[in-house]
Formats: sequence, structure tokens, C-alpha cells
Amino acid sequence: MDLDQLAALRTPEGSAALSAAATLAGGDPLAAASALRAAGVPPTLAAAALTQAELRHRAVGKFGPAAAGMFLTRAGLEQATRRVVAERRAERLRAAGVRTLADLGCGLGADALAAARAGIRVYGVEADPVTAAMAAANAAAAGLAELFTVECGDATAFDVSRVDGVFCDPARRASGTGRRIFDPRAYSPPWDFVTGLAERVPRTVVKVAPGLDHALIPAGAEAEWVGVDGDLVEAALWCGELAQVPRRATLYRQVGTETRRSRLTGSGATEASVGPPRRYLYDPDPAVVRAHLVAELADQLDATLGDPSIAYLYADRPTRTPYARCLEITDVLPFSLKRLRALLRERRVGRVEILKRGSALTPEQLRRDLRLAGDQAASLVLTRIAGAPTVLVGHPVD
Ligand SMILES: C[S@@+](CC[C@H](N)C(=O)[O-])C[C@H]1O[C@@H](n2cnc3c(N)ncnc32)[C@H](O)[C@@H]1O
Repeated sequence: MDLDQLAALRTPEGSAALSAAATLAGGDPLAAASALRAAGVPPTLAAAALTQAELRHRAVGKFGPAAAGMFLTRAGLEQATRRVVAERRAERLRAAGVRTLADLGCGLGADALAAARAGIRVYGVEADPVTAAMAAANAAAAGLAELFTVECGDATAFDVSRVDGVFCDPARRASGTGRRIFDPRAYSPPWDFVTGLAERVPRTVVKVAPGLDHALIPAGAEAEWVGVDGDLVEAALWCGELAQVPRRATLYRQVGTETRRSRLTGSGATEASVGPPRRYLYDPDPAVVRAHLVAELADQLDATLGDPSIAYLYADRPTRTPYARCLEITDVLPFSLKRLRALLRERRVGRVEILKRGSALTPEQLRRDLRLAGDQAASLVLTRIAGAPTVLVGHPVD
């Protein structure tokens, strides 16, 4: 997509092509292109409209119904923040007194739009001309063009003294190849610039990949890990006045039409105590594990670890918690394929889910080796207890 194609999509003819393409998204792409051309849409406009329709279709999971009116690029969509997460971040910024915000590297504008919806005046800066134009088009489509404006340029040149808060979500994909960047020192804008922002603007938030090395968390910052429906989606560093606690895990869960939010906080520096496996096993949400809040969760559940280096918790009672899955354990065996196979045969287990932490075994291979037969289901947990390879057999607790 180039700027001319984007401009064409924003004309009445382009808008009609987009509406027609939306009805064809998800089907056979060649048939869709022929249908648009047969309806008199020029080939280049048809191709651009079909790409947008496909991206909008994919974006519904992140943005909900608003995706239908957005302009998107593949890379921009992959890196964009989910609406539920962006909205909560915007509310928190607003509650902290942020009224004007610079979004440095605003991409397609998912975060900026959420901040504007929360009533914050947002100045977006985006280096890529097409992405910048799309962000501006997204602001217009959402009726937020007065609150969210976009400048195409280098974010490092933005005068941050103009705003009372800064948000930066650096690019974690290499421009050109689109390859994922794992080392924050290769982010763009550069990591030194990003972390230096916190020294210049007391209300700075930085979005980072959830795999961030804890050693890179700036002193005094709050590090938050975010999970959505069990998937670890991002981390954020809340700097200066915005830091409330050292570590936080925020989980969003869709229950029917409602989104539930739960948050666990703590120092991230406490060790949970270790004990023998007990009747109930808890498998903490990845955001809790990454935030190093397993000890805080253990406290809530009156639970202990079975091994100091493995994040499974064990307790005598089941406790309802949004922070972990709970399994009732019926058997604890030192790992032996023969013994496990015999036990599952005896119980007529034909279906298993396999969880693992601290085990080098491959679940798919184990499933084949078990040669299961029977009408019962079971959960298998491959782990170590006090250093010894162990398998636990049980079932989920509702
Ligand atoms: C991860 S994306 C932002 C996504 C955005 N927060 C959202 O949710 O839609 C990062 C963006 O920063 C832009 N970028 C990278 N380096 C930049 C720089 N020095 N100045 C301005 N923009 C930059 C990239 O082009 C990319 O669009």
C-alpha cells in the first residue's frame, strides 16, 4: 500500500470498493478480485480494498467492531495494542492527571485512539509515511481528529516539554524484513532514547515485549505484564510519578459479553516456600510468572512450590482464582513411561492434556508412546519435584 492507494481508498469510489470487499473477505481471494473487477472497480483499487478487508477481518479480535472502519498494514496490526489493554492504559494515564500526551512511534494509532477516547489530547509521531497517514485516517474515521493528530517524522526530535505525559511503543520488528526483534537494544526508537524519556518527562509509559529481561527495568519503574484470555500479550514500564508498585500482573478475561480485569501486585522479589506436592496443583497464568509474582499468589492460595525453580504451586484446598488454573491431583509418580502407561491403561484413559514445566519431554512424543485406549480423560503434568523428574495425574477443577 502506498499513499496514493490510501488516498484512493478514502474517496467515495474507494469507500464503495471497501464495502463491497468487506462482503467478500474470508472467501477465495481470486474470486473476490474478479467479483470486484466485474463490478467495475479498477484492479489496483480492488487489490487495495481486498487487502484492507482481509486485515479488518483479522483485526476484529483486537479492536472489536471498530476494526471495520480502520486502515491497517500487516506489520502495524501485528504490533498494535488490543483495545481492552489500550483503554485501561488510557484510563490510568487520565487518572494520573495526563491531559496532553505524546505517542512517540504511534503506528496505526491503537493506543493514541484509546487515549483520545479518554479525553486526552494526543500528539502522535510516526516515521513511516503510510502508517502515519493511516493513523490520521483512523483518527478521522473514529471522529477523533481534533484530539489525535499525527506528524510524520522522527520521534526522537519531538519536543517533549509540550506535553505532560509520554507514551512510547517502540517497533519490535525490523523495517524491511519484518523480523521480530528480541533485544530491546535494537528497538526503534532506540532503547537509550526510550529509557531516557523517563528522566525528561515524569509521566512516561513504555510498552515492551513480554519477554523483557528484568535487568533492563529502569530503577523505580513499575513493570506490568498483561495477559488476555491466558495469552501473555505485552509488558509496560510505568515510570516516574506513574509507578505505583514494583511489579504487577493484569489479566483480562472475556466472560460472555463482559471483560473481567484482575490484578496481582507485589515486589517481584519474594521467594515462595517449597514443600511436598499436595492434592491441588495451580498452574499460574504466564503474566504472573513473568512478573515474578508466584510467591504473592502462593500466599493467596496458601500454597507452596514443589521445586524452587518451577512455577507450579500445590495446596490442600481448591481456591477460586483468576491467576491460575487448578487441577486436582490423584497420583504422583517418579517419571517412568512403563508405570504411567500401566496406570492410564488401568484407568481406561484414552484422552490426555499434557502440561509441562521443567521437563525436557515432548508432549506429542509422549502421547504417541503412551498408546492410549479408553473412554476416560486425564491431565498429565510433567515436572520435577525436589529436582526429580515426576509425572502427576489428575483432572481440572472447574
Ligand atoms: C509498535 S509500533 C506502535 C504501535 C501502536 N502503539 C499501536 O498500538 O498501534 C511502533 C511504531 O514506531 C514507529 N517508529 C519506529 N522508530 C520511530 C522513530 N524514530 N520515530 C517515529 N516513529 C518510529 C514504527 O514505524 C512503528 O509504526
